[in-house]
Amino acid sequence: MTAIGIIGTGGMARELGTGWIRAGHDVTYGSRTPGSAPEGSGLPVATVTDYRSAIEGADVVVIAIPYPAVVPFVDEHRESLTGRIIIDITNPFENLAHNEKAGVEYTSDALGTTEGVVAAFKDNFVATINTPGVASGQRADVKIAADDARAKDIVRGLAEDLDHRALDCGPLHNARLIDSMVSLMLVLDREYAGFTRKTGWKFVGLDDEAPGASRPTVPSERS
Ligand SMILES: NC(=O)c1ccc[n+]([C@@H]2O[C@H](COP(=O)([O-])OP(=O)(O)OC[C@H]3O[C@@H](n4cnc5c(N)ncnc54)[C@H](OP(=O)(O)O)[C@@H]3O)[C@@H](O)[C@H]2O)c1
Repeated sequence: MTAIGIIGTGGMARELGTGWIRAGHDVTYGSRTPGSAPEGSGLPVATVTDYRSAIEGADVVVIAIPYPAVVPFVDEHRESLTGRIIIDITNPFENLAHNEKAGVEYTSDALGTTEGVVAAFKDNFVATINTPGVASGQRADVKIAADDARAKDIVRGLAEDLDHRALDCGPLHNARLIDSMVSLMLVLDREYAGFTRKTGWKFVGLDDEAPGASRPTVPSERS
């Protein structure tokens, strides 16, 4: 069991949290409005707390807020975030349209280290998080980029807990490539799938059940 703090209570937060709770993890949400959840989201209000509590109770913190809010969030909570695994799922789009630097690199710059920082789930549409086979029955891949091998391994395990195949995409700066894949994915989804956003990228030619390396367990501060 991993204690996961998800920052934000939107669609991605809800889908990731729901899947991880089902897989036996302990999920808490950090919100600008603790004690409330978006109407119809089904999020248990008791699990929606403030940013600080969500971070401090977690081994893994997932940043699931709009990209422009990420660096201000990290600046404000740098101390509590340091030493934890941070999954940045946010997409910069027009904010970093040049793709010379990935959004997650600004996150690690704000944190002051790449240790623990992982880019993942950026190109997994919200509708596919709990139904990975929604894209024509094929599972899209979860692409993971990080400099920290242990953190990457843990995030790969969390992706597999949602029944996705995880692909190690190398160092954190490779998230520059993933950021641009997200933009292209939106173009293709609109062109070929009527903007249903149930599609995704899959790297073909591999054994779909390619075994992963051993998964370290994150020692929970709360156990
Ligand atoms: N939608 C997708 O298919 C998808 C796929 C992969 C990655 N992503 C990325 O994941 C992130 C979340 O996407 P989403 O679709 O879940 O978005 P969303 O449904 O709009 O939810 C974002 C959440 O962030 C919080 N928030 C909103 N505005 C904020 C602000 N100005 N400052 C701080 N927090 C704010 C809100 O939670 P509170 O009101 O509780 O604070 C809100 O529920 C985005 O960065 C997006 O690029 C999305």
